[in-house]
Amino acid sequence: MVTKEISKSEFGHHIGLDDKRVQEIAGLLNNMLADIHALYLRTLGCHWNMEDPRFYFFHELLENQYKELAEEQDLVAEKLRQIGKKAPATMQEYKQLMSQKESLEPLNADEMIEGLVAIYEQLIRNLRRDVERTTTLEDFGTADILTQILRAFEKRAWLLRSHLLKQQEA
Ligand SMILES: [Fe+2]
Repeated sequence: MVTKEISKSEFGHHIGLDDKRVQEIAGLLNNMLADIHALYLRTLGCHWNMEDPRFYFFHELLENQYKELAEEQDLVAEKLRQIGKKAPATMQEYKQLMSQKESLEPLNADEMIEGLVAIYEQLIRNLRRDVERTTTLEDFGTADILTQILRAFEKRAWLLRSHLLKQQEA
């Protein structure tokens, strides 16, 4: 149950979130930050290493996507600072925090896109769970940021998936 009591946080913040809620919210933001960073790196890897006749098209598409992921990672990191927490920024921390195991990036274009879609779909499910949880905890600011990212991920997954549908019909 969410307590209505508003006290000075141990972090010295007066934004109406007690320390227990801040700890839980920081935990889910840390995980999401690491997952977005891992997806950012994987998207860069595909942007660089894809070998396919459609290379230029995917190269451009994935460039837009990694730039958007960097902005989303920044949103989550800055939210951590707003609730008085440090934003993890080392590979060591990200490795511990990410919910998905890193796997080798395939060279085949369709496998690359399939892999990205699968990661987006998992993160969309995680984001929906986190939006629900932060709403229950009455942290509407975080819920709004996560909803914004959820919306962008749903669109990006759809854009990527559309290339696979074309392949399956052929
Ligand atoms: Fe590039």
